[in-house]
Formats: sequence, structure tokens, C-alpha cells
Amino acid sequence: MPAGLPAAEGEDALPKDAARAAQLWEDLAERIARADIAYYQEDAPELTDAEYDRLRRRLTALEERFPDLRRAGGPSQTVGARPASGFAKVTHLKPMLSLENLFSQSDAEEFIARIRRFLGLTDDEAVDLVVEPKIDGLSISLLYEQGRLVRAATRGDGDEGEDVTANVRTIGELPETLGGSGWPDRIEIRGEIYMSKADFASLNAREAEAGRKVFANPRNAAAGSLRQLDATITRGRPLKLFAYTWGEASAPFAATQWGALEAFRGWGLPTNPDSVRVHSFVDLWERYQAIERRRASLAYDIDGVVYKVDRLDWQARLGFVSRAPRWAAAHKFPAERATTRVLGIDIQVGRTGKLAPVARLAPVTVGGVVVSNATLHNEAEIARKDVRIGDLVVVQRAGDVIPQIVEVDVSARPPGAVPYVFPDVCPACGSAAVRGAREGEDADVDRRCTGGLTCPAQAVERLKHFVSRRALDIEGLGAKQVELFHDAGVVTAPQHIFRLADRIAAAGLPPLAEWEGFGAVSAANLISAIERARRPGFARFLNALGVRHVGETNARLIARHFVEFSRLATAMESPEAGAAEIAAIDGLGAAAGGSLAAFFAEPHNQEMIAALLSELDIQPFERRETATSPVADKTIVFTGSLERTTRDEAKARAQALGAKVASSVSRKTDLVVAGPGAGSKRTEAEKLGIRVVSEAEWEAMISGSE
Ligand code: IVH
Repeated sequence: MPAGLPAAEGEDALPKDAARAAQLWEDLAERIARADIAYYQEDAPELTDAEYDRLRRRLTALEERFPDLRRAGGPSQTVGARPASGFAKVTHLKPMLSLENLFSQSDAEEFIARIRRFLGLTDDEAVDLVVEPKIDGLSISLLYEQGRLVRAATRGDGDEGEDVTANVRTIGELPETLGGSGWPDRIEIRGEIYMSKADFASLNAREAEAGRKVFANPRNAAAGSLRQLDATITRGRPLKLFAYTWGEASAPFAATQWGALEAFRGWGLPTNPDSVRVHSFVDLWERYQAIERRRASLAYDIDGVVYKVDRLDWQARLGFVSRAPRWAAAHKFPAERATTRVLGIDIQVGRTGKLAPVARLAPVTVGGVVVSNATLHNEAEIARKDVRIGDLVVVQRAGDVIPQIVEVDVSARPPGAVPYVFPDVCPACGSAAVRGAREGEDADVDRRCTGGLTCPAQAVERLKHFVSRRALDIEGLGAKQVELFHDAGVVTAPQHIFRLADRIAAAGLPPLAEWEGFGAVSAANLISAIERARRPGFARFLNALGVRHVGETNARLIARHFVEFSRLATAMESPEAGAAEIAAIDGLGAAAGGSLAAFFAEPHNQEMIAALLSELDIQPFERRETATSPVADKTIVFTGSLERTTRDEAKARAQALGAKVASSVSRKTDLVVAGPGAGSKRTEAEKLGIRVVSEAEWEAMISGSE
């Protein structure tokens, strides 16, 4: 094993004295809890299965030696199987979206008011909604062709999931062939796979009996069962399904959400009997409360209710905002809370240099999950809540949100606890950490390390982001391996990943297969995963670069605008014009433009991009749904008053068809849609020879492409 590489966790000696053992236990419990959150809640695993198992084995060994450490609800008593990877990837025919969250009665009211405004409804037009329990399980997409189940896929990142067909076929209540009539030739049925509370309890009893670990909650049990590589194991697990929506459908089959649920039932698909259709906000609110009251007595876990606009023609008009429909929302139940002590406050340095304070907590179970750390957001937040080390605090976990500290119980404060002093130097590299303000921007709430890429924490975090699932998605190259390769000096910049074997040899280290924790098979797998990552999509690649304000969503918008990476790079050769072009993309602004321009202007970033381009073949952005639209790629300006739809709706429809919507007319404008009262913009368009159409002509133009 090369010198300086960490030994595998399992082989580490265990401490002999109780104080050290307690410290190690806290450390392991916290790392397991963090890995569980990353895995189960964020769906972005930080550790490989082997690393995770090693942490757990070490914790169990420690507890065997120091039985006093074992506690109810602790990690050794909970959670369970980490599913295997190795499923084939599947591209969904229509993306699987998420839902906007609502947290209060007024959020729910505003959600409906927004729908009314968007559709331009008059006061006497009621918006019927379907109210469904929000099942806390895993979403699944079931492709039926000619009524036969041909494929089942997990949600994954929404565009691409994992093929779990063999496992899904073991679910007894799921029809292999659709019954009844009226189903489209091709339909992606979407729903939730879950395990009932009773089945979960008996599965856990069996697991405990057999000396195996138990699952923390039904959701984890369902996830672990569904993602077993061996379908015979899944067969023994009592999974259930509720169908509640659909993706691609080759033909219309219903006019309302309610009608769709009835159709599903008629085809033999299980639907939730507790879904209802309501006609007013009063009824909706009553239903929300009724379901919340019944939450504990329901046979399965729910974490809220889902509201969906009933009329499908209205759903179509409402469309989507980024990754969520405007016609549906999830009203979450209040977060679950617990009380615990703050053991310490650590500062983590993110890939953009942000100093992120994290409270280390005495592990506590909150809503079925062990929590041992919570975000403290920033300096101001710590001061506002006056969180001190030693304090008794209330923590909450709301769904997939990172645990937070809600309040401090000042009456239980230990004597001598002092206010926390936020560091003004980076804990990773010692550079000054400042709360900068760029011209035109508000003072930053976050303190950032000024060390740039010379700061090891930033370099490592950037590398982790580069290979992460939503970026280059290199299997087998997780946080742990990135740290290992970085510490060994073989990967200190992204381009080094693609020369891994050569760099290992050049550093005089033994081949990867001989490294601790690798072996011939996993080394070969990693090398081939790296090879497969050489053809990333434009948006993924751009997201991978980790530029501030250019995350997944903005990267997609930019990729969609430029189509090819080389065109973006060319535009960025003139930073000001490039920044302005990006700022003008609908959905983006000056922050993204400025940040990307600054990134491209940095010589070391230019070198990095040049080095990456010589390793990679970046694929042009592909439009899925908009390729055939007559307005795809066109820049459109709406002016005057629209009579058939609201301005928001017209804009959203144009964007959904791949068009860009601008607010003023220029040489770049392709089309102006002018309603009554159109003035200077119309004149300007005519002057520039740009085509001007009426609202009716516009509708005719796009009809048939939606
Ligand atoms: S509808 C575009 N209905 O909640 C419509 N989702 O927070 C998308 N979920 O990923 C989903 N119960 O896994 C819908 N009755 C229900 C649901 C439900 C649970 C889950 C689903 C989705 C997540 C969004």
C-alpha cells in the first residue's frame, strides 16, 4: 500500500479506554448518519457500499467491546441494507418531476390564487382539485406497451433512472398486463412504491430474529428492497404500489386527474382510496386536516398531501416551472422535532470557498432517522439564534431538508457557555476568510476563503462535485476516493482523473489494483467508468465545472441557449458581451453572467478547460420535447394585450416549445406577437423587418406542437 494512504476503517485498532471509545462512537454515528442523509434523502451517496459497511462494522465492533455505548435508536439498531448499484440506466420518455412544497394554509391559498391568476379565471369559475395523500415511498415509472409491462425504472435524476423491472415484477398487486379497456398503446404509469407499517414491522422482526440489522423506517425498507440486485430477495419483501400520475401517453385517455385515477383502477392498477376531489378551498383545507389527523392510523407512512388541478386541459395550460408542475403541489406536514445538546461547532469549507458552520449534536432520533449534525447556515444565523457549544437545542427535520436548529433552550444553558466566535481565517488553509461584496451585489452573508484553488478544501470539494452524480457521474469515484487520490497527489485537478493510471505510475506508486480498498476488479471498474465519462453532455459538463450561480438548472439553460460548448467558450472570449448574453437568457440574470465571465477570464481556468477539452468529447445539448416545434430556438416578444391567455401563460407556453422570450425588440428578435394596443415595439419590429403576428396567428402557429 502506498505510504500515507489511510488504512481501511475495519482494520483500524479500536481504542482501549472508555472516553476515547465514546468519542469514536460519536464520530462513527455521525458519519453513518451523514451518509444516510446523503443516500436516502438527498439521493446522492457520498460513500461506496463497501465504505459504508466498513463504518458500520467498526461501530458494531466498538459496541461489542463497550456495550454501554449501544443505545436504542442508535445506528447499529437501525437503518439497513444499502442497495446495490449495477442496474442499467433508463431514460424516461418524459422527465419525472418533483413538486413544489407548501407549508401552511396561506401557502395553499396562494398556490390556488396563483393558478387562478395564471389561467385568468373569473370569480365564478371554480378550480376543482384532487387531494391525495403524499406517500413516503419511492417514485417509479412503469412503461406499458400494448397493455404489457415492459419496463420499470426508478426516478433517478428525473431524466434518467435505474432499470428495476425484474424487481418490480415481484410486486404481487401490480398487473403484468392491464385489464379493462381504453389504455393507450404506450403509457408510462407513475406512482409510489411503499411498504406498509405492518409489513415493515414484521420484516424487521424477521431481520432481528435472523440476527440481521433492522431498517430505520418503511421508506428505507422499501428502497433497500427494491434496489436489490437479486430479485429473489425483493420477492420476499412485501412491497406495494399506488399509481397516481403518468408521463408519456400515446393517446389521451381521460379529461381530468380524477378520471385518470378511475381509468387506472379500471385497468387493475392500485390507486389510493383516500384520494378525493374537492370543489372549494374550504373543502380542500378540511381534507388536509382530516388526513393529518389520520396520519398515525393510516396503514402506511405519509409526509403530507398532494393537490392537483383536476382538469387536464388546465394542467396543460399551466405547464411547468423548471422541474415542477404549476398545477400540483405537496402540502407538507409540520416537521418532526427533538431536543439534544450541541457538542461542538465545526466549519466546513465548500467548493466555492464558503465557510459553512455545522453543529455537531449528541445523536438523537428525529422522525425515524438519527440526526447528529445540523446546519447553522452562516455567521449571522449563529448570532441571531445565539447557539453556543453545550446548549440544549430543538432540532427539526422536514422531509428531505438537512436538519436545522430551531431554537435554543436558554434556561438549560451550561454555566460558562460563551458566544460562538466565527473564524476569520479558513480552517483548511489559513487564508483570510472574508464577507466580500462584489460590485452591484449585496454584502455576502457568507464568509469565503480567499485561498482559491490553493486551498485544499476547495480543490477537494470541487473535484467531488466534478465527479458527482449530477455532474460527470463517475461510478466508483466518490468523495472517499477523491480524497484518497487528492491526498496521494495524483488527482489535484479534474483533468487528472482521465490520466489516473499514468499519474499513479508517474508518482512512483503501485498500480491501483494493489491499493488498499481496491483490488483488480474495482480498479478495472473504476477505469472503465472513467472511460465512459469521456462523452458528457454540455449541461452536465458545465454543471461539473462548479461555477458559482451556475448549478444544474442554470447550466441547462445556458447549454440550451448555446447548444455547443465551443459556442459558449467563443462567446466568453469577450467577457462583457458574453456576460450580457447569458444575463439575457430567460431565467438567468447578471449573477450567472458575471460569475461565468469571471470564471472564463481566469488563466488557470482557461488552462483547466483546455486540458479537459483534450480529454473529453462534449456532446451538444439535446432538446427532448421541443425538437419539432416551429418556434424552437426562436426569440419572441409579446406586446400589446393578449385576449386569449394571460401574458404569463403565453410566455410559459412559448418557453415550453423551446422558444426564448425577450422583453424588447432587437435584431435578434425572430417574431413579435402583437395584441391590441401594441405600440413602439410593433413599430420597431416593422422597421427591422421582423415578422409580426396576431395572437390568433400565434395560436395557429403553435397548435399541434404542444
Ligand atoms: S405527483 C408531476 N402524487 O412526491 C407530478 N407524487 O415531492 C409528480 N409522491 O417524486 C408527482 N405521493 O415520489 C404525486 N399522490 C402523489 C404522491 C407523490 C407521493 C412523491 C413522488 C414525487 C414526490 C414529489
